[in-house]
Amino acid sequence: KLSAVGLVASIVKPALANEDTISDPFFSDYNGGAKMISTWSHGQEANRAGWKLLEEGKSSLEAVEAGARQTESDVTNRSVGIGGMPDREGHVTLDACIMDWNSNCGSVGCLEGIAHPVSVAKHIMQNTPHVMLVGAGAKKYALKHQFETIKTPLPEVKKEWEKWKKEQAAIAKKPEINHENHDTIGLLAIDEAGRISGACTTSGWAYKLPGRLGDSPIIGSGLFIDQEVGGAVATGLGESIIRIAGSHTVVELMRQGKSPEQACKETVERLIRKHKDMSGLQCAFIAINTKGEVGGFSVFNGFNYALKTKDQDVLIDTPFDRKW
Ligand code: GLY
Repeated sequence: KLSAVGLVASIVKPALANEDTISDPFFSDYNGGAKMISTWSHGQEANRAGWKLLEEGKSSLEAVEAGARQTESDVTNRSVGIGGMPDREGHVTLDACIMDWNSNCGSVGCLEGIAHPVSVAKHIMQNTPHVMLVGAGAKKYALKHQFETIKTPLPEVKKEWEKWKKEQAAIAKKPEINHENHDTIGLLAIDEAGRISGACTTSGWAYKLPGRLGDSPIIGSGLFIDQEVGGAVATGLGESIIRIAGSHTVVELMRQGKSPEQACKETVERLIRKHKDMSGLQCAFIAINTKGEVGGFSVFNGFNYALKTKDQDVLIDTPFDRKW
């Protein structure tokens, strides 16, 4: 017998998108070819991992998950997955989310000791009536479903943290987010059938206060997809991106007819208007629309994103509002 909550939960559970091959005739008008874009230079390896699946005819959802998993496994990356930097107490807590063309979405926040938060987010999306699990509940869920565990921080990251701890005063400093400190990976893909999906995964602000979440696990901030329009992902200082519901804003501007680049630019301008002190405040957005057009824009110079198509595998420097 279902409890009242269980009943409501089963009623509101959205249609799940777990088909991983292309069959939906609704999208058959699209002929722009599969495409994948991901933030920063680490996006190139991620795109290549996702592309393998797109080439096999798999969906954009499978592609963005595979891309995000690639970066989550990179032991040299200090802002995503196993190699990520810890909070101020030495715990590496990971945030991720994923969203598909049917507006299905899943998210995890503050997840410790699990190799692939993006896959936990996808599992939540496809197997529960919820969107978001955080902290101990997210960990319990991941362990119950036998997701791979990891030991973090890595020894070299722990050494850096111990050094930082000795040096720092008790207040959180603003992080420097530039091309040396790459930040979040956000990924968007459109498959041969025109279906758009996105994912986002990060270890967040290095030496953050324990329990802090940035934009990356928040649907509408770090990532937003609406198959009527397109999708967007964000990178940079999460607190600022949340303040303007960044990725949702980009998508809504595209709905009003803006190109992906123009929508990202206007979103960056809105973000700037909401902040008195922009020193060191790097944020950037990338976007794709249902025609397969892509673009991006950043607050400061130095941001790039990776584009992969059948014929291209390139890094693109985005236009920006100001120089460092
Ligand atoms: N954009 C990543 C974060 O602020 O956590």
